[in-house]
This record gives sequence, structure tokens and C-alpha cells, in this order.
Amino acid sequence: MKLGVNVDHVATLRQARGTIYPDPVVAAVISEYAGCDSIVMHLREDRRHIQDRDIALVKEAIKIPFNLEMSINKEIVDIALNLVPKQVTLVPEKRRELTTEGGLDLIKGYKRIEKAVKKLTDKGIAVSLFVDPAKKQIENAKKMGVDIIEINTGRYSDAESNQSMKKELKKIREAVKFAKSRGLFVAAGHGLDYENIKEIVKIKEIEELNIGHSIISRSVFIGMISAVEEMVSLINK
Ligand code: PXP
Repeated sequence: MKLGVNVDHVATLRQARGTIYPDPVVAAVISEYAGCDSIVMHLREDRRHIQDRDIALVKEAIKIPFNLEMSINKEIVDIALNLVPKQVTLVPEKRRELTTEGGLDLIKGYKRIEKAVKKLTDKGIAVSLFVDPAKKQIENAKKMGVDIIEINTGRYSDAESNQSMKKELKKIREAVKFAKSRGLFVAAGHGLDYENIKEIVKIKEIEELNIGHSIISRSVFIGMISAVEEMVSLINK
């Protein structure tokens, strides 16, 4: 199981003061050094954290794959087509949300998303679709011709009772199994931390976890290298 580190919230801290530090590109290089397998940055339409210069610099600064998380907004798709990152992960985006609130709707949004997928794959960019753990969504992802999906673990992470946590975990397990049976590479992420990851790593078919907020938060106290190393060791246990 691989670890993708999302460094968005290093940029959140920088943007809070409009300084040039802390630099998410430096965080990406240190995360690579600490043993993660890829770097994720979400270039939001409102540029609330990651900026255009960050994605241009990080692509040059790291040797591990760069995974650009983004919406299907035309301006953003054009930026990706110009930059050609190794991978993009398409997510829904709402202006007011604190963070990505759910998976893509591959039923209602089929045509628009398929169009973006085609443009990006034609450029040689691997495309991953962020979806809720639901069969219909996964089926449509496969139909669109992508090879990778990322299953939204947000509901599991937000679960307030043991019972709802178990329910969400079951949905994730079933979705992972279904996606694997369709030949998809399965990633998962959203809201994962040093505690709730323990049940997720038991689902061996998951090939990659993308984690941001909890790692960046821990790095404030113990440093980026230790925060990434600790997560890597939990995943490898
Ligand atoms: N995966 C996706 C698709 C996301 O949108 C996010 C949040 O940017 C993450 C993973 C990481 O989530 P978190 O910051 O809660 O670990």
C-alpha cells in the first residue's frame, strides 16, 4: 500500500499571512525524503491554498509522481493540459466548502466529466476519479475508461458512532472489492488520520492512500519527516 502526501495545508498556513513561507514545495521534497510514494496538491479554483507556482515548481522538484487534484473547470483543465503532471485526480468542487465534501457524481455529471477525462488522457496524463463507495459510480468510472479510482473515506472518517463507522467501513470494503473485480487501481482517502487508518490498512486490496490534513497537523509539532515516517510505518504494519 502506497502513501500519497497532500501538502495543501502547508500552503494554507502560508496564505494565512501572505508570506512566502512555509513553502508546500519544500514540504513535498521533505515528504519524498521521508519515504512517501507520491505528492498531491489541489489547485482550487479560488486558490485558497495551492497556487499556480506551487504546481509548476513541485513537478520539477520531486522524483516521485505528482498527482494534481482538481475540478473539471475549464481554466483548471487547461492548466493541467499545459503542465502535464503524472496524474490528475478529478474531484467535485464547491466554493463554500471547507474541504471536498463528497465524490464526483458520475451519473448526473457523466458527459462533462467524460469530456475532461478524454482531454487529459489524450495528453498522456493518468486520470483518477474520486468517488463515493457506490457500485454505480464505480461502474461509470470504468465506463469512462479510467484506470484509477480514489474511494472517498470521508464518511467513514466523520462517523460519530461505532455503528456508523462499521457501516461505512463495510461500504468501503465492498466498493474496493467491486472496483478490483473491474480491474481498477484503487486508492482511498479523505479525513484519514493516525488512528482511523488502522481499519483501512486492513483492506489489503487498497493500493494507495492519500492523506493530508492529519500529517501536516502532526508535522507542526514533530516535524514533517517524523510525521510522514510515522504514517508510512502505520501503513506498512
Ligand atoms: N483525497 C482527496 C480526493 C481529497 O480531496 C483530499 C482533500 O484534499 C484528500 C484525499 C486528503 O484529505 P485529508 O486532507 O482529509 O487527509
